[in-house]
Amino acid sequence: MNILILGSGGREHAFAWKLHQSPKLKKLFVAPGNAGTAEIAKNISVGVNDFEAIKAFVLTEGIDMVVVGPEDPLVNGVHDIFLKDDEISHVPVIGPQKAAAALEGSKQFAKEFMFRHQIPTAAYESFTSENLEKGFAFLETLKPPYVLKADGLAAGKGVLILNDLQEAKDELKSMLVDAKFGSAGATVVIEEFLSGIELSVFVLTDGKGYKVLPTAKDYKRIGEGDTGLNTGGMGAISPVPFADKEFMDKVHERVVKPTVEGLKIDNLPYKGFVFIGLIKVGDDPFVIEYNVRMGDPETEVVIPRITNDLVEVFQAVANQTLDTIDLQIDERSATTIMTVSGGYPGPYEKGKVITGLDHISDSLIFHAGTTTNGQGSVVTNGGRVLAVTSYGTEFKEALGKSYQNVEKIKFEGINFRTDIGFDL
Ligand code: AMP
Ligand code: GLY
Repeated sequence: MNILILGSGGREHAFAWKLHQSPKLKKLFVAPGNAGTAEIAKNISVGVNDFEAIKAFVLTEGIDMVVVGPEDPLVNGVHDIFLKDDEISHVPVIGPQKAAAALEGSKQFAKEFMFRHQIPTAAYESFTSENLEKGFAFLETLKPPYVLKADGLAAGKGVLILNDLQEAKDELKSMLVDAKFGSAGATVVIEEFLSGIELSVFVLTDGKGYKVLPTAKDYKRIGEGDTGLNTGGMGAISPVPFADKEFMDKVHERVVKPTVEGLKIDNLPYKGFVFIGLIKVGDDPFVIEYNVRMGDPETEVVIPRITNDLVEVFQAVANQTLDTIDLQIDERSATTIMTVSGGYPGPYEKGKVITGLDHISDSLIFHAGTTTNGQGSVVTNGGRVLAVTSYGTEFKEALGKSYQNVEKIKFEGINFRTDIGFDL
């Protein structure tokens, strides 16, 4: 198999690392990739949304499968483009078609889906600039904090949680009338606030059957104790200790099954990962959001715990034979710590030389924002730079190893959270 992965983060490096171990793999390419993927695959300088260039590459290199990392190309319909084009329609794409990718591309679509299929989620209403006054009135019926969500993709910044009613009204107006989040905020979903602890459940489906993958919890805020600005994710732990059998049975019955059934009932073609963002309210699961891809950095702890041949698993997704796969999960915990550039998630500099990578023992390094400079050194090339993943019999042991190795990595401005798992 010749496989092309789309994306350039830690998630894509973790996919590449796992696919690379398969005897079924012949050639592996990553578009555009990073310095980590370059060590085990060939990076090609093609953007994830450049569908013309992707098609041309698939044809010249004889690519047999495309694995899509980020949501953007999925929401833009990369899978549909392959299916509609006779020259490449034989090449399976791992990731849902456009209609189903709207589960992430539109919050309103996702909420309607959940209500239609009786999947537990926060009460909501949605508004446009046409009915701004109704939005104000709805806010007045709610108790603080107020949850405002831009309907469309807003690079993880489109959700506002506000304590003050007037501030919530002002923000609603600035989203709907002043286009604070551009067209992504032309519709705003206002939700009831749910109070609880969050976790993520990942499902892989071939459109017929499905496998529930290990749970994970990520740490989104930049600051210790979950404070400060939101980031893409500063670390993750799998499995989630509080997601015990009783709770997971509820997740399965109330959320996973109706989600996969709902996709079928609604004719939403899905061959790929469903990332279900959950909140545990009391003892009950509620869905906060769907993503139509794996999480990052959750992939860096979930994929290392899957012991199957990932090429075989993806082939089964493509052929709709996932029911024949016996998913094997490593019992150990896995944790990852994300090292980030100084200043991130605000402005930061790139091109800082990274040292210490050859002193790592007992951890896996997944590159996120890295590249190589003219002198052949690995340098920083993004906000999130390197994820350090370790195994342990329980998560604290794994964390200990990750932190020991994080200390060996040096680059100017390096930052990381020292308290991943503090709340568990
Ligand atoms: P989302 O992009 O929908 O995942 O929202 C981003 C974050 O906002 C989530 O990870 C939660 O921490 C928080 N959030 C979203 N919706 C709610 C809600 N209804 N109640 C409480 N917190 C929420
Ligand atoms: N870590 C959260 C995400 O990938 O969306």
